Amino acid sequence: MLRRREKPLDLSPFTVPTHVAIIMDGNGRWAKRRGLPRQAGHRAGAENLRRIVRACVEFKIKILTIYAFSTENWGRPESEVRGLMKIFARVLDQELDELHHQGVCIHHLGDLTSVNPTLQAKVRRALELTRNNDRLVLNVAFNYGGRAEILHAVRQMLADGLVPDELTEDLFSSYLFTRGLPDPDLVIRTSGELRISNFLIWQAAYAEYYPTPALWPDFGREELYKAIVAYNERERRYGLVSDES
Ligand code: IPE
Ligand code: IPE
Ligand code: MG
Repeated sequence: MLRRREKPLDLSPFTVPTHVAIIMDGNGRWAKRRGLPRQAGHRAGAENLRRIVRACVEFKIKILTIYAFSTENWGRPESEVRGLMKIFARVLDQELDELHHQGVCIHHLGDLTSVNPTLQAKVRRALELTRNNDRLVLNVAFNYGGRAEILHAVRQMLADGLVPDELTEDLFSSYLFTRGLPDPDLVIRTSGELRISNFLIWQAAYAEYYPTPALWPDFGREELYKAIVAYNERERRYGLVSDES
């Protein structure tokens, strides 16, 4: 599994989080620092995704959720949005077989209906092809917003005729795009920003948050390892008192 020149990283003393979610931020700044157009940063970000998926398989992380495009990102200049859609289409064309081969099961979080039909078809094909894989679940949050997800769930619940007394947190969770999956244990945000930007706002209620100054294209396997080590230094109290007190 270890590639040439890759440093051996020992995870045996650590608990590996089951579900890691990443806000892949900083592509634009990565490009700017190199005097390149933003699109070059997005391309480098897509290449990095390949490395991180491989590292998740190596580290035996079971679920990886990535924030690829938010409902708010439509407000970026049209040329950037077009460029991003091109990259998503290309990643699906070029990486799907390899992802399938690695045992990755792709899920989509968000609304596909407002996306270009050709891209929609590529996404649906990826979901269909990989649906029985079980090494790593890769949730791709694409045209995703946490508020939109909650509204979508509420609409569905009303359409199903649920009455207020039936509603529980578990039932509510079963109406979200992440239905059936455990909540994220660790939310990583690259590029030093300290905000959640409408990502998994219900599911991440008790996730450990790990901000890192690394820009997304530079956030590699060793950075992911460091995040797991830091996660192991946390005490998840869930509102209770410390084990040590
Ligand atoms: C993340 O990088 C990619 C997307 C949001 C699609 P950015 O494009 O937000 O990069 P910065 O924040 O401008 O550096
Ligand atoms: C969050 O990053 C969305 C994705 C990574 C897809 P943004 O760059 O869009 O978020 P803000 O604007 O810094 O909150
Ligand atoms: Mg950003």
